[in-house]
Amino acid sequence: MIRKCLFPVAGYGTRFLPATKAMPKEMLPVVNKPLVQYGVEEALSAGLDQIGFVTGRGKRTIIDHFDVSYELEHQIAGSDKEQYLTSIRDVIQRATFSTTRQPEMRGLGHAILVGEVLIGFEPFGVVLADDLCLVEEGTDSVLTQLVNIYRRFGKSVVAVQEVPEDKVHKFGVIQGEELEEGLYTVSDMVEKPKKEEAPSNLAIIGRYVLTPDIFEALRHTEPGKNGEVQITDALCQLAKRGRVLAYKFKGKRFDCGSVDGYVEATNYVFENLYSNGQ
Ligand code: UTP
Repeated sequence: MIRKCLFPVAGYGTRFLPATKAMPKEMLPVVNKPLVQYGVEEALSAGLDQIGFVTGRGKRTIIDHFDVSYELEHQIAGSDKEQYLTSIRDVIQRATFSTTRQPEMRGLGHAILVGEVLIGFEPFGVVLADDLCLVEEGTDSVLTQLVNIYRRFGKSVVAVQEVPEDKVHKFGVIQGEELEEGLYTVSDMVEKPKKEEAPSNLAIIGRYVLTPDIFEALRHTEPGKNGEVQITDALCQLAKRGRVLAYKFKGKRFDCGSVDGYVEATNYVFENLYSNGQ
Protein backbone atom coordinates (compact mmCIF):
# COMPACT_ATOMS: atom_id res chain seq x y z
CA MET A 1 0.00 0.00 0.00
CA ILE A 2 1.21 3.50 -0.81
CA ARG A 3 -0.20 6.05 1.57
CA LYS A 4 2.28 8.92 1.46
CA CYS A 5 2.75 11.68 -1.07
CA LEU A 6 5.54 14.23 -1.04
CA PHE A 7 5.07 17.75 -2.38
CA PRO A 8 8.38 19.58 -2.86
CA VAL A 9 7.23 23.19 -2.75
CA ALA A 10 10.40 25.01 -1.75
CA GLY A 11 11.34 26.41 -5.19
CA TYR A 12 11.46 30.14 -5.88
CA GLY A 13 9.21 30.16 -8.93
CA THR A 14 11.40 32.70 -10.69
CA ARG A 15 9.67 32.16 -14.03
CA PHE A 16 6.55 33.67 -12.56
CA LEU A 17 8.01 36.81 -10.98
CA PRO A 18 6.83 39.26 -9.82
CA ALA A 19 3.67 37.26 -8.91
CA THR A 20 5.77 34.83 -6.88
CA LYS A 21 7.82 37.42 -5.02
CA ALA A 22 5.81 37.13 -1.80
CA MET A 23 3.42 34.34 -2.77
CA PRO A 24 4.26 30.69 -3.44
CA LYS A 25 3.67 29.68 -7.04
CA GLU A 26 1.80 26.63 -5.75
CA MET A 27 -0.89 29.02 -4.47
CA LEU A 28 -1.55 30.52 -7.90
CA PRO A 29 -5.20 29.84 -8.63
CA VAL A 30 -6.28 28.05 -11.76
CA VAL A 31 -9.71 29.67 -11.98
CA ASN A 32 -10.68 29.54 -8.28
CA LYS A 33 -8.54 26.76 -6.83
CA PRO A 34 -4.83 26.93 -6.03
CA LEU A 35 -2.51 24.61 -7.92
CA VAL A 36 -1.48 22.78 -4.76
CA GLN A 37 -5.10 21.82 -4.02
CA TYR A 38 -5.43 20.22 -7.45
CA GLY A 39 -2.29 18.25 -6.59
CA VAL A 40 -3.57 17.11 -3.20
CA GLU A 41 -6.92 16.10 -4.72
CA GLU A 42 -5.02 14.03 -7.27
CA ALA A 43 -3.02 12.34 -4.49
CA LEU A 44 -6.27 11.54 -2.65
CA SER A 45 -7.79 10.11 -5.81
CA ALA A 46 -4.84 7.69 -5.91
CA GLY A 47 -5.43 6.67 -2.28
CA LEU A 48 -2.50 8.71 -0.93
CA ASP A 49 -3.86 10.54 2.09
CA GLN A 50 -0.70 11.31 4.07
CA ILE A 51 0.58 14.48 2.51
CA GLY A 52 4.10 15.76 3.22
CA PHE A 53 5.26 19.22 2.16
CA VAL A 54 8.91 20.13 1.77
CA THR A 55 8.63 23.85 2.24
CA GLY A 56 10.94 26.83 2.38
CA ARG A 57 10.85 30.49 3.23
CA GLY A 58 7.63 32.30 2.33
CA LYS A 59 5.54 29.17 1.90
CA ARG A 60 3.34 29.40 4.98
CA THR A 61 0.15 30.13 3.07
CA ILE A 62 0.32 26.62 1.59
CA ILE A 63 0.06 25.11 5.06
CA ASP A 64 -2.63 27.60 6.10
CA HIS A 65 -4.69 26.62 3.07
CA PHE A 66 -5.02 23.09 4.47
CA ASP A 67 -6.01 24.26 7.92
CA VAL A 68 -9.50 25.10 9.13
CA SER A 69 -10.11 28.85 9.15
CA TYR A 70 -12.37 29.36 12.15
CA GLU A 71 -13.14 33.00 11.41
CA LEU A 72 -14.21 32.13 7.89
CA GLU A 73 -16.25 29.12 8.99
CA HIS A 74 -17.96 31.26 11.62
CA GLN A 75 -18.67 34.11 9.18
CA ILE A 76 -20.31 32.05 6.48
CA ALA A 77 -21.92 29.26 8.52
CA GLY A 78 -25.50 28.76 7.36
CA SER A 79 -25.17 31.18 4.39
CA ASP A 80 -25.28 30.19 0.72
CA LYS A 81 -21.56 30.98 0.52
CA GLU A 82 -20.75 27.77 2.36
CA GLN A 83 -20.76 25.91 -0.96
CA TYR A 84 -17.49 27.67 -1.89
CA LEU A 85 -15.70 25.83 0.91
CA THR A 86 -16.99 22.36 0.02
CA SER A 87 -13.96 21.13 -1.91
CA ILE A 88 -11.32 22.33 0.55
CA ARG A 89 -13.28 21.08 3.57
CA ASP A 90 -13.43 17.68 1.95
CA VAL A 91 -9.67 17.63 1.34
CA ILE A 92 -8.92 18.71 4.93
CA GLN A 93 -11.13 15.95 6.29
CA ARG A 94 -9.67 13.20 4.17
CA ALA A 95 -5.93 13.92 4.39
CA THR A 96 -3.27 14.51 7.02
CA PHE A 97 -0.56 17.11 6.44
CA SER A 98 3.03 17.26 7.67
CA THR A 99 5.86 19.55 6.76
CA THR A 100 9.59 19.77 6.84
CA ARG A 101 11.84 22.52 5.56
CA GLN A 102 14.49 22.59 2.91
CA PRO A 103 16.81 25.25 4.32
CA GLU A 104 18.59 25.92 1.02
CA MET A 105 17.36 25.50 -2.54
CA ARG A 106 19.73 22.77 -3.65
CA GLY A 107 17.49 21.18 -6.25
CA LEU A 108 14.53 18.85 -6.53
CA GLY A 109 16.63 15.78 -5.66
CA HIS A 110 17.82 17.48 -2.50
CA ALA A 111 14.24 18.51 -1.63
CA ILE A 112 13.11 14.87 -1.92
CA LEU A 113 16.00 13.71 0.27
CA VAL A 114 15.01 16.32 2.86
CA GLY A 115 11.52 14.77 2.73
CA GLU A 116 12.86 11.37 3.83
CA VAL A 117 12.01 12.23 7.42
CA LEU A 118 8.31 12.39 6.43
CA ILE A 119 8.39 9.19 4.37
CA GLY A 120 10.56 6.65 6.16
CA PHE A 121 11.30 3.38 4.36
CA GLU A 122 8.26 2.94 2.15
CA PRO A 123 7.22 3.67 -1.42
CA PHE A 124 5.67 7.09 -1.96
CA GLY A 125 4.23 9.42 -4.55
CA VAL A 126 5.76 12.74 -5.57
CA VAL A 127 3.69 15.57 -7.03
CA LEU A 128 5.16 18.76 -8.44
CA ALA A 129 2.09 20.92 -8.08
CA ASP A 130 3.12 23.39 -10.78
CA ASP A 131 2.58 20.58 -13.30
CA LEU A 132 -1.20 20.43 -13.44
CA CYS A 133 -2.39 17.03 -14.65
CA LEU A 134 -5.99 16.56 -15.72
CA VAL A 135 -7.79 13.50 -17.03
CA GLU A 136 -11.21 12.87 -18.50
CA GLU A 137 -13.96 12.55 -15.96
CA GLY A 138 -14.42 9.03 -14.71
CA THR A 139 -10.88 7.94 -15.66
CA ASP A 140 -7.84 7.34 -13.43
CA SER A 141 -5.80 10.36 -12.40
CA VAL A 142 -2.19 10.42 -13.57
CA LEU A 143 -0.93 9.50 -10.10
CA THR A 144 -3.44 6.63 -9.94
CA GLN A 145 -2.08 5.36 -13.25
CA LEU A 146 1.45 5.33 -11.79
CA VAL A 147 0.34 3.68 -8.54
CA ASN A 148 -1.36 0.91 -10.55
CA ILE A 149 1.89 0.23 -12.38
CA TYR A 150 3.85 0.26 -9.14
CA ARG A 151 1.42 -2.37 -7.77
CA ARG A 152 2.13 -4.65 -10.71
CA PHE A 153 5.92 -4.32 -10.85
CA GLY A 154 7.11 -2.99 -7.46
CA LYS A 155 9.51 -0.53 -9.13
CA SER A 156 9.82 3.25 -9.25
CA VAL A 157 7.63 4.76 -11.97
CA VAL A 158 7.98 8.14 -13.67
CA ALA A 159 5.32 9.79 -15.83
CA VAL A 160 6.52 10.73 -19.31
CA GLN A 161 5.08 12.52 -22.29
CA GLU A 162 6.28 12.95 -25.84
CA VAL A 163 7.60 16.44 -26.48
CA PRO A 164 8.84 18.11 -29.67
CA GLU A 165 12.60 17.81 -30.27
CA ASP A 166 13.16 21.52 -29.70
CA LYS A 167 11.69 21.25 -26.18
CA VAL A 168 13.69 18.30 -24.81
CA HIS A 169 16.27 20.65 -23.26
CA LYS A 170 13.65 21.69 -20.68
CA PHE A 171 13.11 18.20 -19.24
CA GLY A 172 14.69 15.04 -17.91
CA VAL A 173 14.59 12.61 -20.83
CA ILE A 174 14.59 8.81 -20.73
CA GLN A 175 16.08 6.06 -22.79
CA GLY A 176 14.04 2.90 -22.50
CA GLU A 177 12.76 -0.27 -23.99
CA GLU A 178 9.02 -0.64 -24.48
CA LEU A 179 7.67 -3.39 -22.25
CA GLU A 180 4.07 -3.01 -23.29
CA GLU A 181 2.17 -0.19 -24.91
CA GLY A 182 3.21 3.07 -23.28
CA LEU A 183 5.32 1.37 -20.58
CA TYR A 184 9.12 1.43 -20.71
CA THR A 185 11.95 -0.12 -18.74
CA VAL A 186 14.33 2.80 -18.32
CA SER A 187 18.01 2.18 -19.04
CA ASP A 188 19.28 5.75 -18.95
CA MET A 189 18.12 9.27 -18.16
CA VAL A 190 19.56 12.67 -19.00
CA GLU A 191 18.60 15.96 -17.38
CA LYS A 192 17.91 18.81 -19.81
CA PRO A 193 19.88 17.40 -22.78
CA LYS A 194 20.70 19.32 -25.95
CA LYS A 195 18.46 18.09 -28.71
CA GLU A 196 21.39 16.27 -30.44
CA GLU A 197 22.16 14.45 -27.19
CA ALA A 198 18.62 13.51 -26.15
CA PRO A 199 18.16 9.72 -26.05
CA SER A 200 14.46 10.06 -26.98
CA ASN A 201 11.63 12.61 -26.94
CA LEU A 202 10.05 11.05 -23.83
CA ALA A 203 10.19 13.75 -21.17
CA ILE A 204 9.67 13.25 -17.45
CA ILE A 205 6.91 15.38 -15.93
CA GLY A 206 6.10 16.13 -12.30
CA ARG A 207 4.55 12.85 -11.16
CA TYR A 208 6.51 9.96 -9.67
CA VAL A 209 6.07 6.88 -7.55
CA LEU A 210 9.40 6.18 -5.89
CA THR A 211 10.73 3.21 -3.98
CA PRO A 212 12.63 4.11 -0.79
CA ASP A 213 16.02 3.06 -2.24
CA ILE A 214 15.89 6.46 -3.95
CA PHE A 215 17.07 8.06 -0.69
CA GLU A 216 20.31 6.08 -0.64
CA ALA A 217 20.84 6.94 -4.32
CA LEU A 218 20.22 10.64 -3.55
CA ARG A 219 22.78 10.54 -0.76
CA HIS A 220 25.35 9.48 -3.34
CA THR A 221 24.30 11.98 -6.00
CA GLU A 222 26.64 14.89 -6.61
CA PRO A 223 25.15 18.23 -7.69
CA GLY A 224 24.65 18.14 -11.48
CA LYS A 225 23.12 20.63 -13.94
CA ASN A 226 22.97 24.17 -12.44
CA GLY A 227 24.77 22.96 -9.28
CA GLU A 228 21.52 21.30 -8.11
CA VAL A 229 21.02 17.74 -6.90
CA GLN A 230 18.89 16.30 -9.69
CA ILE A 231 16.30 13.60 -9.07
CA THR A 232 17.03 12.41 -12.61
CA ASP A 233 20.64 11.60 -11.69
CA ALA A 234 19.56 9.57 -8.66
CA LEU A 235 16.86 7.75 -10.62
CA CYS A 236 19.44 6.98 -13.27
CA GLN A 237 21.41 4.97 -10.69
CA LEU A 238 18.29 2.88 -10.00
CA ALA A 239 17.56 2.61 -13.72
CA LYS A 240 20.97 1.04 -14.34
CA ARG A 241 19.80 -1.75 -12.03
CA GLY A 242 16.53 -2.14 -13.96
CA ARG A 243 14.53 -0.57 -11.12
CA VAL A 244 12.76 2.25 -12.98
CA LEU A 245 9.77 2.23 -15.31
CA ALA A 246 8.38 5.11 -17.35
CA TYR A 247 4.74 5.38 -18.26
CA LYS A 248 3.28 7.49 -21.06
CA PHE A 249 0.33 8.67 -19.00
CA LYS A 250 -3.14 9.26 -20.34
CA GLY A 251 -4.33 12.81 -19.78
CA LYS A 252 -3.25 16.41 -20.14
CA ARG A 253 -0.39 18.17 -18.43
CA PHE A 254 0.02 21.92 -18.16
CA ASP A 255 3.29 23.54 -17.13
CA CYS A 256 1.82 26.08 -14.73
CA GLY A 257 5.30 27.19 -13.65
CA SER A 258 5.38 29.09 -16.95
CA VAL A 259 3.02 31.90 -17.89
CA ASP A 260 1.98 30.27 -21.18
CA GLY A 261 1.13 26.93 -19.57
CA TYR A 262 -0.70 28.63 -16.74
CA VAL A 263 -2.91 30.66 -19.08
CA GLU A 264 -3.59 27.55 -21.17
CA ALA A 265 -4.59 25.62 -18.03
CA THR A 266 -6.82 28.43 -16.83
CA ASN A 267 -8.70 28.58 -20.14
CA TYR A 268 -9.02 24.80 -20.25
CA VAL A 269 -10.35 24.50 -16.70
CA PHE A 270 -12.75 27.40 -17.13
CA GLU A 271 -14.17 26.00 -20.33
CA ASN A 272 -14.27 22.34 -19.40
CA LEU A 273 -14.28 21.77 -15.66
CA TYR A 274 -15.31 24.82 -13.75
CA SER A 275 -18.70 24.88 -12.17
CA ASN A 276 -19.72 27.65 -9.83
CA GLY A 277 -19.02 26.83 -6.22
CA GLN A 278 -16.47 24.06 -6.81
P1 UTP B 1 11.44 24.13 -10.76
O1 UTP B 1 12.50 23.64 -11.65
O2 UTP B 1 10.10 24.40 -11.35
O3 UTP B 1 12.00 25.37 -9.97
O4 UTP B 1 11.28 23.04 -9.59
P2 UTP B 1 11.28 26.56 -9.26
O5 UTP B 1 12.33 27.25 -8.47
O6 UTP B 1 10.08 26.13 -8.47
O7 UTP B 1 10.74 27.47 -10.46
P3 UTP B 1 11.56 28.41 -11.46
O8 UTP B 1 12.26 27.51 -12.43
O9 UTP B 1 12.51 29.24 -10.62
O10 UTP B 1 10.51 29.26 -12.10
C1 UTP B 1 10.49 21.89 -9.74
C2 UTP B 1 9.83 21.57 -8.43
O11 UTP B 1 10.79 21.27 -7.43
C3 UTP B 1 10.63 22.09 -6.30
C4 UTP B 1 9.86 23.30 -6.77
O12 UTP B 1 9.09 23.86 -5.73
C5 UTP B 1 8.98 22.70 -7.89
O13 UTP B 1 7.80 22.12 -7.36
N1 UTP B 1 11.98 22.42 -5.78
C6 UTP B 1 12.98 22.75 -6.65
C7 UTP B 1 12.23 22.37 -4.42
O14 UTP B 1 11.33 22.06 -3.61
N2 UTP B 1 13.48 22.64 -3.97
C8 UTP B 1 14.50 22.98 -4.81
O15 UTP B 1 15.64 23.22 -4.33
C9 UTP B 1 14.23 23.04 -6.18
